[in-house]
Formats: sequence, structure tokens, C-alpha cells
Amino acid sequence: MKPLVNRVSEFSRKAKGAFDKARTLEDFKNFYAEFLSKKSELNEFLKGMKDLSEGERKKIGPLIQSLRTELTELFEQKQSQLEQQEMNKKLVADWLDITKRREQWKGSLHPVSLVQKRIEEIFTSMGFEVADGPEVETEWHNFDALNIPDSHPARDMQDTFWISTGHEKSHQNTVLRTHTSSVQIRKMMADGAPVRIIVPGRVYRNEAVDMTHDATFYQVEGLLVDKGISLAHLKGTVQTMLSELFQKDIKIRFRPGYFPFVEPGLEVDIWFEFTDKEGKSRAMWLEFMGAGMVHPNVLRNCGIDPSKYSGFAFGFGLTRLAMMKYGIEDIRLLFSQKKDFLNQFACS
Ligand code: DAH
Repeated sequence: MKPLVNRVSEFSRKAKGAFDKARTLEDFKNFYAEFLSKKSELNEFLKGMKDLSEGERKKIGPLIQSLRTELTELFEQKQSQLEQQEMNKKLVADWLDITKRREQWKGSLHPVSLVQKRIEEIFTSMGFEVADGPEVETEWHNFDALNIPDSHPARDMQDTFWISTGHEKSHQNTVLRTHTSSVQIRKMMADGAPVRIIVPGRVYRNEAVDMTHDATFYQVEGLLVDKGISLAHLKGTVQTMLSELFQKDIKIRFRPGYFPFVEPGLEVDIWFEFTDKEGKSRAMWLEFMGAGMVHPNVLRNCGIDPSKYSGFAFGFGLTRLAMMKYGIEDIRLLFSQKKDFLNQFACS
């Protein structure tokens, strides 16, 4: 066998040659197996040290050790460099534009929500408060307190969903509210006068669904009770709301109308200008809302003295207003959950 020194220097040469030739991570793995692992000749040299004479060990020991250190360092440096390169390649390949994804999923507000938001802004700027009430309501709040007793024919004006409580004789019958007017009662009973609220909310009617009717839709109720309130205040308020909403002056007219909770009662029409399917400009009077001066019985039912206070009230369909504002002809589209349709509306 060749002397150990020669074997070591030959090994060193081979190892360095192999190192210089290696390129890929795979090459370096093989390099490690051949020249640095437990199965390598280097390990044999190390194990064989104990069989050497002390003189030889002193001579050759440091040589083997420093060779091992040198090869290990070379290997580790190169390995981490290659791993870094692999990682960079992977990062470039897997690169993901997360902002792009967010753009794709950008939502938009429902047209009814958009109009509701605007209405709330307009009324709060006039000093109104936005109030809320339960959709499952007592018969008393929805009808009796609003001056619509059991025997009253006006109960048939609104087809009602009655809720079965399981107690036939219960004197507190429950309904799905047929209008947001019930919140007038709750608010006046809780806070008394003066009061100045609007109540946007969902209401329910037991009727067949077609292009212009749905069994659930949205309304906005308005109520202002204070000293010295007259129909002139109602007119000014409605006019301001409409011109703010449509950003132009809107003509309105009052007609007599009947609602048990107001006296006198009114129908408010608006002069509605629009472009028809053929692109022609058209205009017509459209029934827009019910309104009037709060009936003294209603004030009394809520503990407010009608000789001291008066007020106006109004109620209109928010769903219908959204249809007018955006030129939507079929109410069913609004609640269709069709994304293509709903995404058209600006998020502002
Ligand atoms: N509650 C009525 C309805 O749902 C609308 C209404 C009419 C509300 C006259 C009012 C009002 O406050 O004064 O048809």
C-alpha cells in the first residue's frame, strides 16, 4: 500500500477536482457522500489514526484535520449558495400578485343600500335621527296604536302575515310588520315629544310577486313632532330630500289621501323625468308617498298631548325609489342575487 501521506494528498487532489467540477445540488450531494461522509476515504483516514505511531500521528494528523475542515467549509458554503439560488427560482416561479386578487373580489353596495345611505345622510343633516324597530311586531304597534282598530276596513289595505304564537286567545297577536310606521309608536312612547326620526327598514306583505311587487321590500318612515308643526314643514322637508337625492329641483304635488294614522292625509306625487327604452325623454306624475299630520289619537296613544304638539309623518318605498333612481324596471332583479346586475352600481 502507498504511504499514507501520498494517499491523503491524492485524496485531496481528487476531492478538489470533483468540487470544481460539481454544478448542481445533486453533484454536491454526491461530492459529500464520496468525500466527507462516514463512508468516505477521509473517514477511514481519521479512524486509522489510532493505529499510527505517535510521530506519524503528529505529522499527518493536522494534515488530515485541516483537509477535513477545508472540504467541509467549501461544501457548506457552496451548498447554502445553491440552496439560496433554488429558493430564488422557486420564489420567482410561485410569485403571486395578491393585489390583483383583491381587485377581482371587490364588492359593491346593493342599490337599495346606496339609496338608503344617501337618504340617511340627507335627513341627519336636517337634524333627524335614524331609528330602528323590530320586524316581528305586535298587532298593537302595527295597527291599533296607529288608529287602525280590529274592525277597521283599513286593515284590509295591507295583506298581513300573522305569526302563530300557539296561544289562540293571546291578546298580544304578532305580525311581520306591514310598514315601518310601527316604529313611530315605539319611539314616541320611549322618548315623548319633540321627536324627529326616519326609519329605514324591511316590511312584509302577503302578496303575489310580480314586476313591481314583492312580499318583502324596504320603506322609509319619517316623523317629526314638535310645537307649531304644519304641512308647510312637511312640504319643505320632502322637497329638500328629493332635490338632494336627485341633485336637481323636483316638482311635487299633494293630493288628499286616506291613512288612519294621519289627519289630514295626503298622497305626494313627484314629477318624474326619465328616458324610455327608445331613448325618448318622458315625464309623468308618479305616486311617491303617503303622508299627513299625525292623528291626535296616535299622539294620545303615545302619551303626547295633541293640544300642545303637532307633527307630520310620511312613508315611502325605498325599494321603489332605488328603482326610480337607477331606472330598474323589475323589482325581482333587485333581490335576484345576480352578481352581474348588482355589480353595476357605484360604490359611493
Ligand atoms: N304606512 C303606509 C304604508 O305602508 C305609508 C304611510 C302613509 C306612512 C302615510 C305614513 C303616512 O307615515 O303618514 O302604506
